[in-house]
Amino acid sequence: MSTKTVLVTGGAGYIGSHVVRQLREAGTAVVVLDDLSTGFREAVLDAPLVVGNTGDAALVDAVLREHHVDAVLHFAARTIVPESVADPLRYYANNTCATRNLLEACVRHGVRRFVFSSTAAVYGPTADGRAGEDTPTQPISPYGCSKLMSEWMLRDLDANGSMKHVILRYFNVAGCDPHGRIGHSTRDSTLLFKVACEVAVGKRGELAIFGTDYATPDGTGIRDFIHVEDLADAHLRALDHLDRGGASTTLNCGYGHGYSVREVIAAVERASGAPLRVVERPRRDGDIPALVADARRIRDVLGWTPRHDDLDLIARTALAWERRLAARGA
Ligand code: UD1
Repeated sequence: MSTKTVLVTGGAGYIGSHVVRQLREAGTAVVVLDDLSTGFREAVLDAPLVVGNTGDAALVDAVLREHHVDAVLHFAARTIVPESVADPLRYYANNTCATRNLLEACVRHGVRRFVFSSTAAVYGPTADGRAGEDTPTQPISPYGCSKLMSEWMLRDLDANGSMKHVILRYFNVAGCDPHGRIGHSTRDSTLLFKVACEVAVGKRGELAIFGTDYATPDGTGIRDFIHVEDLADAHLRALDHLDRGGASTTLNCGYGHGYSVREVIAAVERASGAPLRVVERPRRDGDIPALVADARRIRDVLGWTPRHDDLDLIARTALAWERRLAARGA
């Protein structure tokens, strides 16, 4: 591998920290840039951490120069859809403008490989609940728009020869490091697996099912849940792809099949050995009935093969981490 040091923005967050750990296990030098607004210092383990924001041009310049960065994995972002609806400018600032700043610094410093954390939220609702990379993008939230605008900047920088990219569009990420070293510690999360595990350990009183009248087999929403370890592996392969001179590309990250909210609850109940307290509520604003990836391209382009495509394994690793947090009083 010709990469010298990989800059991982947002490397103290849930997904970024799993990637940092895997990169270091693979012997890659990394430096993490994270403002710790939602991330945690301990999540980077002993990787070098610079505390700061990707919107800080002078800081980003210094990090790229001092650490001889020649590839970037860009995770740092805000990711909560309802929050983006309430405060769109914050999302365009944190996600779009900060990415623009980072890209400008990368171009200045000759960084020519960039892996970008995008989202299935760029698709919006689709007729059959499935989305392939060529499905038209019609984001319905400022969050999805803020990410799509970053994708466009990368497209244009590829076109003018400045840099190559891999855009990874995440579906529903869940689960934690199977060895329990790091996990999903985000506070006030709204994500289904996280909320369900918090209920299982008694941190929350009940789990609300948002909508039981969807036109799905059991009436609840369906999503494509991908284990964070498989997602992290996709990032290492994306970097390899670029190192080997591969072309810029956009890839869905999912397993290609979905589970309902009730199926997720059942998996967490099996992992915990006890029923969860569940209440049925109306549909949540902005939710779509189903979204499942067409995930063939990532296998073809990166040779990626999921190793954790197992809802019970996702539930067990997520719950194990939640129990660890609870034991710490976190
Ligand atoms: C997540 C991502 C979004 C991405 C999408 C891809 C975040 C914050 N959101 O959103 O960026 O585009 O996956 O599919 O990372 N649910 C409940 N009760 C709860 C929580 C959730 O019933 O307490 C239901 C929701 O109504 C939905 C499903 O569970 O049907 C999944 O919701 P959630 O985990 O919040 O993820 P998405 O909204 O799909």
